[in-house]
Amino acid sequence: MTILVTGGAGYIGSHTCVELLQNGYDVIIADNFDNSSPDVPERIARITGKTPKVYAIDVSDGPALERVFTENAIDAVIHFAGLKAVGESCRIPLRYYRNNLDTTLTLLETMERHGCARIVFSSSATVYGPKNGCPYTEDMDTSATNPYGWTKVMIEQILRDYCAANSGFSAVLLRYFNPIGAHASGLLGDDPNGIPNNLMPYVARVAAGQLPKLTVFGNDYPTRDGTCLRDYLHVVDLAKGHLSALEYAAAHTGAEAFNLGTGDGVSVLELVHAFRKVNGVEVPYVIGDRRDGDLAEVYANPTRANDALHWRAEKSVDDMCRDAWHFIQTRVAEG
Ligand code: WQD
Repeated sequence: MTILVTGGAGYIGSHTCVELLQNGYDVIIADNFDNSSPDVPERIARITGKTPKVYAIDVSDGPALERVFTENAIDAVIHFAGLKAVGESCRIPLRYYRNNLDTTLTLLETMERHGCARIVFSSSATVYGPKNGCPYTEDMDTSATNPYGWTKVMIEQILRDYCAANSGFSAVLLRYFNPIGAHASGLLGDDPNGIPNNLMPYVARVAAGQLPKLTVFGNDYPTRDGTCLRDYLHVVDLAKGHLSALEYAAAHTGAEAFNLGTGDGVSVLELVHAFRKVNGVEVPYVIGDRRDGDLAEVYANPTRANDALHWRAEKSVDDMCRDAWHFIQTRVAEG
């Protein structure tokens, strides 16, 4: 089976391409490389011994995407391509709505022309918004507090409406919690351009001496240690969830959402201490002000994914910290 992975050179996309190739799928990557390194496909090949076919295109470019579908018999699509920084989306909302919605609409129109009727969509726990209590379940109402989150809510609705109008179509909406860690080889990992927004890549760069210290955004939340709880899961576990979703999409039609998380909330300080302990490194930090938009707790009820997708997060927080550190050490050694 041939799978088109849009955004397949990104953090989660590249780890998913590895799992796909290692499980006998043929993989085609469509990525504009705006937010990913051009050497990622080669790294995927070094890990798997198989080279994905790569189209360096913008998924919203209709003629370019048409060529991908004309030149390849695509059985299903995993759709990662999109802008994903919460803070940036508040600063440039039109770019986020245009990019994330246009890529999806162009993709669905192209899939329709070519009779491709299965999509796995990269959604996010951010669709649960601020009103729901944890653990989140898939039947809860969705909303958002930022343009990035609203694009995820809107794309889920687009897919639900498309499935309602096209009975043979299958859309699996994967709501990711907080993916962290890296491939055990050290060749793939979370390597954002510039100063990281997210906790784990920031911690890793502090530990590597590339940043002076971590600022913990608030320790006065109503949690066991005052810092925010998040449902961190290993990016390789998350990647494997996409293969389970592909199998589900092959056996079902309609739109279904699934939480991909561990079901456990881990605090910022607990993650920092785990990183220090597992890797024997220092991570200097200071307590700063709360970050706008942060919720005290975000964690999943993953029962539906456990039962219907036969998927369960297996790796520990220690595994996540160990692999994240190995990745940055590998990057440093490469120069
Ligand atoms: C985690 C915790 C911060 C950095 C975001 C997106 C979400 C999803 C995952 C796409 C929070 C704290 C962080 C720092 C800190 N992305 N923190 N100091 O905000 O839970 O989720 O990434 O789908 O949509 O919102 O992840 O890693 O940014 O923050 O104290 O320098 O770490 O306050 O409590 P978040 P994060």
